[in-house]
Amino acid sequence: MLKGKNIVLGVTGGIAVYKACDIVSRLKKLEANVDVIMTKSAMEFVKPQTFQALSQNMVVTDMFETPRYWDIEHISLAQKADILLIAPATANIIGKVANGIADDILSTTIMASTAKVVFAPAMNTRMYENEIVQRNIIKLKSLGYEFINPGAGRLACGDIGAGKLAEPVDIVEYINKLQTVKSDLNGKKVLITAGPTVEKIDPVRFISNRSTGKMGYALAEAASKRGAEVTLISGPTNLSPPANVNLISVSSALEMYKAVLEDFESQHIVIKTAAVSDYRPQTINDQKVKKKDGDMSISLVRNPDILLELGKIKGDKVLVGFAAETNNVIEYAKDKVKRKNLDFIVANNVAEKDAGFGTDTNIVKFIDKHDNINEIDKALKQEIADKILDKTKEFIIK
Ligand code: C5P
Repeated sequence: MLKGKNIVLGVTGGIAVYKACDIVSRLKKLEANVDVIMTKSAMEFVKPQTFQALSQNMVVTDMFETPRYWDIEHISLAQKADILLIAPATANIIGKVANGIADDILSTTIMASTAKVVFAPAMNTRMYENEIVQRNIIKLKSLGYEFINPGAGRLACGDIGAGKLAEPVDIVEYINKLQTVKSDLNGKKVLITAGPTVEKIDPVRFISNRSTGKMGYALAEAASKRGAEVTLISGPTNLSPPANVNLISVSSALEMYKAVLEDFESQHIVIKTAAVSDYRPQTINDQKVKKKDGDMSISLVRNPDILLELGKIKGDKVLVGFAAETNNVIEYAKDKVKRKNLDFIVANNVAEKDAGFGTDTNIVKFIDKHDNINEIDKALKQEIADKILDKTKEFIIK
């Protein structure tokens, strides 16, 4: 899968630089084209000539050297790269990228590229566990950068703990898989609903909920990256729609219902992350409701349960629901899978810390129509999105 792919390997300073030589030779064996960029401190460990011989390409080390070809090198490699792999990645390069610093050829190339960037960190355990480094990693992950976790063991500095560069064989396998995974939903049409619905009371007031749309938008982005043709039907959110996704903006549950039904027939996979309001005010006042003496009440009527309706006309499509609960999560989820005729449901306890509405992470369980339960550890919504898409593949029939 890596044959003919352009891998730009950024090598930063650390004793593990010697292992990057092995990464280059393994990538070359898979017939990838490898361009190496070295930072100044990386060159303190291994000379550029070694990487030059292994990659059979000139090694880039300096932003201001005379270009060997007439293009601006940091832009040309940034554009050429299918994947940018930083291995070993120091706390320094992670910190620079996380904070928008582009002061050498490697950080500039990363900044100027739209390719997937993968970091394989290697550093002293205490540095790796430092809150600042960890926050930088979380920030970068939430922006779509990927990390190959370092291993634990005896480090070059004598410390024992996490921080050892992952094995070159595993790093190359990860990069190889990235290319394979990228297109596993090619040709599939995926419909995702996201965000809250807004039910108007009058021109200035409404009933809504705490959904921010993060989970649904992460799913739309992940499905699109994996090659799917994605339609995202979203209630009001503050999020920018992912690239290459067909966004349909709606406001109320009735609008969402209409938009979903219009698009449903042609889909292969439908995932309903939206937090749809179960009720709407019976009447929407044209004018602002004025206060009067005494109490007031608003009469609410039921909204259609969109997912329940879709379950009735499901056919061969994969149908996935979400269940946000504060108690009896599994029990309620199992009931919904049956009642709404779903393939599986993604259930979370919204009362739990780091899960549910507005958070970057989620803690979920998949409960499928065969009563299988998969417990997914706390992870970023982007990572959960990929796991949900992996699970949908179990149910694709056409
Ligand atoms: O029954 P409950 O509202 O908890 O079910 C949640 C699932 O049903 C979510 O996938 C949500 O998008 C969907 N739903 C819907 N229409 C409603 C209410 C919920 O599609 N009116």
